[in-house]
Amino acid sequence: MGVANEYSIAAGVAKVLAAEGATLGFSHLPDKEGRDRMEKRVRRVADPLGAQLVLPCDVTSDADLEAFFKAIGERFGKIDFLVHSIAFAPLEDIRCATVDATRDGFRIAMDISVYSFIAASKYAARLMGDGGSIVTMSYFGGEKVVGGYNLMGVCKAALESAMTYAAYDLGPKGIRVNAVSAGPIKTLASSAVGEFSEMLALNAAVAPMGRNVTTDDVGNATAFLLSHMSGATTGEVMHVDYGYHIMGSPGHAVERLGLKSTQA
Ligand SMILES: NC(=O)c1ccc[n+]([C@@H]2O[C@H](COP(=O)([O-])OP(=O)(O)OC[C@H]3O[C@@H](n4cnc5c(N)ncnc54)[C@H](O)[C@@H]3O)[C@@H](O)[C@H]2O)c1
Repeated sequence: MGVANEYSIAAGVAKVLAAEGATLGFSHLPDKEGRDRMEKRVRRVADPLGAQLVLPCDVTSDADLEAFFKAIGERFGKIDFLVHSIAFAPLEDIRCATVDATRDGFRIAMDISVYSFIAASKYAARLMGDGGSIVTMSYFGGEKVVGGYNLMGVCKAALESAMTYAAYDLGPKGIRVNAVSAGPIKTLASSAVGEFSEMLALNAAVAPMGRNVTTDDVGNATAFLLSHMSGATTGEVMHVDYGYHIMGSPGHAVERLGLKSTQA
């Protein structure tokens, strides 16, 4: 869930999963009456990967979620995994100081970016007969303050907490639940974050390995978390960010960006 176009993180994940032999189904944001732009964009990613199903699902609608997972159940019987790669906040509520976000903006952002994970996990778990694996996409801005990430940082903190509670709830059923905390990638969603290009450059300079991640990097880590190779791992936030999250100072960025100390 969460392919918008070929640049989406979920598209990179799907590509890796298909290469590893997974059978895939996709959701797309419903199109407005009489249009099929969203579906077409998702199909451009899904069809070449042999998608068995591409169906609309607006995660703010319980009826949509129910219908989507009912169709999944009818098509596949049982499923092994769910990838949740969905987030949204109204532009005016993320492009302002967090303290200026509106009640309505907060409600919408938390509903789409956090509750959708809780609801989708519930429905997916019902289709996972003898165990399974769920992965959601998070970002470091949920752990530490990242300027410009604002309200979405609050959502990611809640998402990571929801992930651990879901891991607790679903553990007895043999279902593992984890999050991938991906470094910044240029996508439709990330274009809403202020000063994103500057953030990319800074991120690569600070990350110990000196580069930014790709959707392939995130796809590989997600495939690991969905596979039996990570069979004892649940409730974990796996950072896929070339090490950015371990830093407590600019580190190598001082040389990389040619920053000189003003002290003798
Ligand atoms: N791009 C980054 O830098 C980055 C880094 C870390 C985590 N993430 C997270 O990865 C996930 C995917 O984002 P992305 O960067 O691939 O951008 P994206 O825009 O390609 O994906 C976001 C998806 O959310 C979907 N969505 C929004 N509202 C919806 C609704 N009401 N119902 C159903 N779907 C809805 C969109 O259709 C889209 O497919 C998000 O959770 C995002 O926060 C992104």
